[in-house]
Order: sequence, then C-alpha cells, then structure tokens
Amino acid sequence: MKPSFAIVGCGKVGTALGINLSKAGYRLAGLSCRAEESAKKAAEITGAEEYSHIPWDITKNVDIIFITTPDGVITEVCGEIARNGGLSEASIVLHCSGSHPSTILSPARETGASIGSMHPLQSFAAADHARNSFEGIIVSTEGDNEAVNISKEMAKDLGATCITIKTEAKTLYHASAVVACNYLVTLQDFAVRLMEAAGISGKEAFQVLKPLVMGTLSNIEKAGTVKALTGPIARGDVETVKTHVNDIRSREPDLIALYNTLGLHTITIAEAGGTLSEEAAGELRQILSGKD
Ligand SMILES: NC(=O)c1ccc[n+]([C@@H]2O[C@H](COP(=O)([O-])OP(=O)(O)OC[C@H]3O[C@@H](n4cnc5c(N)ncnc54)[C@H](OP(=O)(O)O)[C@@H]3O)[C@@H](O)[C@H]2O)c1
Repeated sequence: MKPSFAIVGCGKVGTALGINLSKAGYRLAGLSCRAEESAKKAAEITGAEEYSHIPWDITKNVDIIFITTPDGVITEVCGEIARNGGLSEASIVLHCSGSHPSTILSPARETGASIGSMHPLQSFAAADHARNSFEGIIVSTEGDNEAVNISKEMAKDLGATCITIKTEAKTLYHASAVVACNYLVTLQDFAVRLMEAAGISGKEAFQVLKPLVMGTLSNIEKAGTVKALTGPIARGDVETVKTHVNDIRSREPDLIALYNTLGLHTITIAEAGGTLSEEAAGELRQILSGKD
C-alpha cells in the first residue's frame, strides 16, 4: 500500500500534488489552509479525507507532510506543527521550494522526523488544476535518506523524472532555473525591442523571431550550447558587431549595456568552440567593452 500524505498550504502546488498523488494511489489524509473555507474548497477539489485551518490536526499519524505555503513562512509553519505534536519520528516532512534547502525544516528534524525538499521544476499556473500535471517534468530532491527515497518514488509514480542535488547547491540550482526561464523572457523582450526599432510592429516582432528561437533551442538540444552558436561573434565578423554597437548606441541607448554584456560572454563560448581567432576575439572584446 502507498503511504498517506497531508498538504499544508493548498495553493497551486499543494492542490496539484493533492490531485495527482491521489490519482497515483497515495491516500490524501488531510489538508490545511489558514482559512477554513479555503481548506473546504481544496478538499472538494482534491477529495481529501479531512480538512482544517489548524495544520497539526491533519498531520498527526500521516506518513508524508508537504508544507506548500509561500517560501517565507515554511519554517514558521513547520515549527508550529512540530511544537503542537503534529509530527512523530516516523513523519517525513517535505517542502517544494526551489531556492531553499531542506534544512529550513529543521524544527521537524528536532522531533525526529525526516526532512527533504521535492521541487517540481515547472511553472504551475493559478488554479488551472487540469493542466498542473507532473507528467514528463523534472523534480529535484535533497535531504535525509528517507525523504529523498520517498520523493524519488513519488516522482516516478507521478510520471516525472527525479534528480538528486546537493543541499548546499540549491541556490545555484535555482539561479540556473531563473536564468533558463525568466531571463529567456528578458532576452526575447530585448530582441523584440530591436525588431520594433527596425520597423516590425510589436505583434509581428516575436512571430518573425520565433522560428529562429525554436530552431536554436532544437540545435542546443542536439549539439549543446557551444556547437549551437552561430552568427557574427562565432565567425569573428568584427565589422558587423561594430555596426550593431553603433546603431544600438544611437537608436536604443538603454539597451547597449545588455548587448555588450551578452556579447562578451558569447566570445567565451565562441572561443570554446574553436571558431574564433585570437586576434578577432581581442578586437571584439575591445568593441564590446566600449573601448573602441
Ligand atoms: N507556483 C509555482 O509555479 C511553483 C513551482 C515550483 C515550486 N513552487 C513552490 O511551491 C510552494 C507553494 O507555492 P504556490 O505557488 O503553490 O503558492 P500559492 O499558490 O501562493 O499557495 C500557497 C498556499 O499557502 C497558504 N498559506 C499561506 N500562508 C499560510 C500559513 N501560514 N499556513 C498555512 N497555509 C498558508 C495559502 O492559502 P491561504 O492564504 O488561504 O492560507 C495558499 O493556499 C512554494 O514553496 C513555491 O516556492 C511553486
């Protein structure tokens, strides 16, 4: 028989875990929100056996406790549950934060419980329960052995792929996810601004760029970042880069620092690919450092 679980904090991730782990055969013993009414609503959606606005009422005698509140109150909520007898030595307490390590659950460990983090590397949309699936996504885990083992098992049962990471590496792991996801948006916004400056309207601008973006992602997947790099820096085309810098500086001056910073890092990638001569790399560094 699969273990039982409880959810404390029934927002986007808590509700998604409730629905999907129940479907996978785990018993949703109870869930808790600050407001009794929200807990009742979440219980109706997930089919939880019990609900309460008092978390320790629904965490007692449950195998796995997920604390899926906002990150800033995880330790506080965990401490309240531990102090009020909501845990035992057999309890496994997990949170789902990407940036925080399992050690923020230390009040639970002091009671003898096992602690861990189980982070779904995915964006969960507000209350879109039907779409908030774990199928095919990556889940990372770290913490005590019992917590890591059960996280791996649950991830597998949810159709996700589980990776283990070092507790002390969580901040860098999360920074990587922010760059890959959020800064991709920033990069597209930057490209759209330049396309608009070139006279292609806002709505069309991304559509014009989209095949290029998708093709590049596909190349990265096939060959890795170094081999996927094309364009003037990879070719050592110093004159083209010089004209970019001059035009952006005069037409969109607030974007030049970002263009230069990205260009300087791109030189390093081109050097790793062996497509750039030492001389061209030096000239490009001069231009992109604003020294030309
Ligand atoms: N959303 C995502 O895309 C995503 C992705 C990966 C990981 N995560 C992680 O998943 C966790 C939950 O995020 P979320 O996006 O699901 O947040 P959310 O939608 O804002 O839900 C948080 C829930 O916690 C409840 N809550 C707030 N304070 C509480 C307290 N003191 N005691 C009990 N319940 C409390 C809130 O309901 P009431 O205010 O009604 O109590 C709400 O239902 C976070 O650790 C987050 O970093 C989120």
